[in-house]
Amino acid sequence: MTVAFLGTGLMGLPMAQRLLAANIDLIAYNRTPEKLEPLKAAGAEVAAHAGQAIRAADCIILMLTNAVAIYSVLLSDGASSNLAGRTVIQMGTITPTESKEIRNAVMIAGAEYIEAPVLGSIPEAKAGKLIVMVGAHQEQYQRHLELLKNFGPEPILVGCVGTAAALKLTLNQLIASLTTSFALSLGFVQRQGIDVELFMQILRPSVLYAPTFDKKLQRMLDGNYTNPNFPTKHLMKDTDLFIAEAKSVGLNVSSIEGVREILEIAIKMSFANEDYSSLFSAINSENMNL
Ligand SMILES: NC(=O)c1ccc[n+]([C@@H]2O[C@H](COP(=O)([O-])OP(=O)(O)OC[C@H]3O[C@@H](n4cnc5c(N)ncnc54)[C@H](OP(=O)(O)O)[C@@H]3O)[C@@H](O)[C@H]2O)c1
Repeated sequence: MTVAFLGTGLMGLPMAQRLLAANIDLIAYNRTPEKLEPLKAAGAEVAAHAGQAIRAADCIILMLTNAVAIYSVLLSDGASSNLAGRTVIQMGTITPTESKEIRNAVMIAGAEYIEAPVLGSIPEAKAGKLIVMVGAHQEQYQRHLELLKNFGPEPILVGCVGTAAALKLTLNQLIASLTTSFALSLGFVQRQGIDVELFMQILRPSVLYAPTFDKKLQRMLDGNYTNPNFPTKHLMKDTDLFIAEAKSVGLNVSSIEGVREILEIAIKMSFANEDYSSLFSAINSENMNL
């Protein structure tokens, strides 16, 4: 089987590298060709355009930013005319509505579509320890299980297309809300002159604690958001996707809309490409008129 890997950004590159390490025939495409160099050096074939990669493959894995990127790379005229008879596995974070629309377009082009968004970041992608959530029919899930196990030990079948996309968005809502909530408490602790370690000592054994707090604490204390695994702009994107989808099913989204405002300030403070824990600086900034 030959796999076409489309999108070798922060997550796509280590994921594609795992396929290569497992001796799977790989052809990779990325809009910015320089990002293909590590794969090329490791023996992967690289394609000059997406259509070339799709034509050469049985299975196409997408790790692209958003639905706009998917339409541009997979469903433009030059690319979609090569899709017939192939399987598309969509692994980026998009809404269930978008995922179902893309499935329909892929099926019209004569191909099969499953979704497999992931929880975890670059370290987990490198180690093959992502949590892979699959939206597919049972038989499709079984057929692609071995391939998906290259990314995570136990890919989980959530339900039909759309359900895994929805589950992924709900987890990212938690990332945004928990981090913002912790950042506000941390800022308050600092401004009240309370010892941060004492705050953490009380928080850690309590039921309120989430491991992500300690994961982000040092970055927040240092104001150091460099070398992100997950940049602020992506959390903003996922927050927008969650708000749109949650509104459409009638939920009150005012809490996450507040989180969105904080992310917007972090982006205005030029943290778009930095780690999303930069939202701490948006909360705990001397100048809140940004
Ligand atoms: N980073 C994480 O921790 C993480 C974890 C789980 C899920 N995700 C999700 O996984 C997906 C990829 O994330 P990432 O962190 O790998 O992002 P990234 O580093 O920004 O990579 C995005 C990829 O999409 C391509 N792309 C974007 N817009 C495009 C367009 N209009 N046309 C063609 N190609 C386009 C980029 O190409 P260029 O290289 O040319 O820009 C790149 O290959 C996103 O949906 C993200 O939310 C990320």
